[in-house]
Order: sequence, then C-alpha cells, then structure tokens
Amino acid sequence: MQLLYLGILLALSSFCSSLDNGLVRTPPMGWMTWERYRCNIDCKTDPQNCIGEKLIKDIADKMSDSGWRELGYVYISIDDCWSLKNRDSKGRLQPDPERFPSGIKALADYIHARGLKLGIYADLGTYTCGGYPGTTLDTIQIDAETFASWEVDMLKFDGCYSNSSEKALGYPKMSQALNATGRPILYSCSWPAYEGGLPPKVNYTLLGSICNMWRNYDDIQDSWDSVLSIMEWFAANQDILQSAAGPGRWNDPDMLITGDFGLSYEQSKSQLAIWAILAAPLIMSNDLRTISEEAKELLQNRLLIYIDQDSLGKQGKRVAKVNPLEVWMRELVDEQYAVAVLNKGTDGFPKRFFMSLADLNITKCALGYKVYDVFEQEFLGNVKPETQIQMNINPTGVFMLFVRPASNRFHPL
Ligand SMILES: *[C@@H]1O[C@H](CO)[C@@H](O)[C@H](O)[C@H]1NC(C)=O
Ligand SMILES: *[C@@H]1O[C@H](CO)[C@@H](O)[C@H](O)[C@H]1NC(C)=O
Ligand SMILES: *[C@@H]1O[C@H](CO)[C@@H](O)[C@H](O)[C@H]1NC(C)=O
Ligand SMILES: *[C@@H]1O[C@H](CO)[C@@H](O)[C@H](O)[C@H]1NC(C)=O
Repeated sequence: MQLLYLGILLALSSFCSSLDNGLVRTPPMGWMTWERYRCNIDCKTDPQNCIGEKLIKDIADKMSDSGWRELGYVYISIDDCWSLKNRDSKGRLQPDPERFPSGIKALADYIHARGLKLGIYADLGTYTCGGYPGTTLDTIQIDAETFASWEVDMLKFDGCYSNSSEKALGYPKMSQALNATGRPILYSCSWPAYEGGLPPKVNYTLLGSICNMWRNYDDIQDSWDSVLSIMEWFAANQDILQSAAGPGRWNDPDMLITGDFGLSYEQSKSQLAIWAILAAPLIMSNDLRTISEEAKELLQNRLLIYIDQDSLGKQGKRVAKVNPLEVWMRELVDEQYAVAVLNKGTDGFPKRFFMSLADLNITKCALGYKVYDVFEQEFLGNVKPETQIQMNINPTGVFMLFVRPASNRFHPL
C-alpha cells in the first residue's frame, strides 16, 4: 500500500514536463536588486546603494563569507537599469561603464570565484520598464548570445512595452535562444504577470516547458499590505498554481523583504513561512551589509530552508480559514508535512489555537509523528494523530510546524 502510494506520487509529480536545462530542481535561492535598490543610478551621491558593480561585489562578499552560500543562497541578480541607453555599434546591450567599469564578464568571474551565480535582467519590448533598451523579437538572439558570452547564469525577462502577441512569440523564442547558446541559464519569465496570471490567457503547461520560474502577480512592495495581497491571490488561485509548479518550474510570488523597513519581526516570519509553503524561490532584496542579526537568523533558518527546498517540489495550499486565522499546509517527501497557522488579526493578545494532525488528515503513521516548531527550531515531541497541539500565534504572525513520521530517524535540527 505504502509503495503503491509512493508510486502514484512519483507519477503525479513527473506528469508535467519542465524546461530541460537541468536547473533548479528545487526553488532557486539568492538575492536581487529590485525591491530594495530600484533604479537608483546615482553613484555620485549614493555610491553604496546605486546599481553598479560595487553593490553587487559587496553583496557577493557577504553571501560568501556570512553563511548564505552554504545554505543555498547562490544567485545574485541585477535587475533593471544596468545598461547604457543605447546598444553598441554591433547592436549589443552594454553596461553603463561608469557604474560597471570592469564589465559584466569580469563581474561574473568575481561572483563565480566565490561559488555564486550571476543573474541579469532584460525586457521583452521596445524598452525596459525603467526606460533602458528593450529586447525586441529581432534582438532576442544577440542578447541571449551576449549574456552567455558574459557567463551569466540567470535571466529575468520582463515584459514592459510589448503586447500579448509579441509576448507569445518572444518568451518561447528567448527560451530557445538561451538553449542554443549551450550555457545552462535559469530563465525567469514575467510573462504571466502581464496576462493576469490565470488561464485561459496563461498556459502553465507551455510556460513550464519553456521557463524555470515566473512571476504570476504584482510586484512586492516593502509593506505588510503587499505581502497580504500576494498571499491572498496565491490562495484564491491555488488549485491552478499548485499544478503549475514542480521541479524545474516554479511560481514566483516575488522577493523576500525580511531585513528591509516595512515588516515587523512577526510579519517577516509570516512571509517566510507562506513562501516556503508555496515552494517559492527565496530571493532576498535587502542589504546584507547592514542586516540585523534578527532578520539574518530568520532568513538563515535551516528548517525553513529544508521545507522550501523539499525534493517533492509540490506547492502547498491554504486548507482552512477560521477568521482571523488561516491554516496553510504543504506535503513533503516521505510522509512529511509543513503546516503554518497564520494570524491575520491586528488586535490584542496572541490567539490560542488547538489543532490535531488528524484535523489535517495526517493519520497514516500508526507510530505517530514527531513535530517541530520551525521558528523556535525546537523539537516539540511525539504526537498521535488525535493529539491536540496548542499554539499561541501573535498578531500578524505565524506558528509553523514541521511534521515527520515518528519512525523517521533523521534529525533535521
Ligand atoms: C537544450 O535543450 C535540450 C532539449 O530539451 C536539452 O537536452 C539541453 O540540456 C538544453 N541545453 C541547455 C544548455 O539548456
Ligand atoms: C503587437 O505589436 C506588433 C508590433 O508593434 C503589431 O504588429 C501587432 O499588430 C500588435 N498586436 C496587437 C494584438 O496589438
Ligand atoms: C497549452 O500549451 C500546451 C503545450 O504547448 C499545448 O499542448 C496545449 O494545447 C495548450 N493549452 C491550451 C488550452 O491552449
Ligand atoms: C480532510 O479530509 C476531509 C474529508 O475528505 C476533507 O473534507 C477536508 O477538507 C480535509 N482536510 C484537509 C486539511 O485536507
């Protein structure tokens, strides 16, 4: 019975074919400029924070010497506003020489020397969203070749200044052009976000076969409201989105803003918990040079990362709403589960909540289960499916459990 069940799971999870470049069998992790640094090109008065090689190298240094790389945070990605406003005499995109004096290839070398990977940004359209040269259908090939010649490892391909028919041609065409370079390049497509994120306008079967990840919905901003609206959209459309995701092909609810200005400690936990339930890419946009110890600890939580990076690659869902609480759950390999109880309330004292594993239909293991508190990184004990587990959940915070069969000897902490 157990074997049969596993067999069905395997069959289900391999049902959708994904972009065959061998990349991101688990969600990518790393860092990206956009949410925090936007289109700040003012290196004269803001040299620490402008989009340029100094910022990227500073962050690369931190990622390699402060424990980030070892945990899987390896992509460092430059978003919009890196290029000059014109192409060179051969029609190629070129970095702004004042902000990237060594060029992108040298920057890639610097990053590779630290065991990290470099991401870059382009936009399918006449201009990028920030007004820099776009990639039109006739420049897709030369741009893919340019990025490969610089030894870039990831491309975010945005969609400002093109219409739906151009996108329908351009996104697959860039996928083929990247493949033709022979260099495995993680391909992140903003396409669905420009088409409302849902069928029939978005074909997730097609998307999964040409892109490694994609933005489905609005850009994240540095606020709890923004995080809430993204969570709500992902929950409202979870059946469609769950089947779109899997190894090599991920929905992207956008960057992590832990360590920035807009989220409290509790809210940071909530974003991280729900992103891990969603099998989301963990791409930070913050300042690793000045990040607080508290925010760093949250982002470096091993159990949270273990959950996000689960090899089954199955996106979780919101399974219950008991206003103001919501229960979110993700099935992991080997009969393991992650459960997050979110308190959306903004009033009063921590909400008490009692729940058993049986309430979640986690009942298969006769010997019971081991449960862990993810954020306290603490083993809570062995429970039977019927055992009532008590949780106290702070306003705008979350209680996150990791659950595994009692017979499973491996200790995750
Ligand atoms: C290109 O696509 C082929 C066929 O899907 C695949 O086998 C190969 O690994 C891909 N190469 C790169 C560099 O993505
Ligand atoms: C999309 O843009 C292209 C190029 O500008 C144009 O030829 C085409 O008619 C447009 N299609 C739609 C549906 O607007
Ligand atoms: C979606 O794309 C796939 C793969 O290209 C194709 O087989 C399928 O017919 C498309 N579905 C719809 C509804 O257009
Ligand atoms: C548990 O199973 C019951 C009966 O099939 C179903 O109604 C309920 O939604 C399930 N609960 C969860 C959390 O999956």
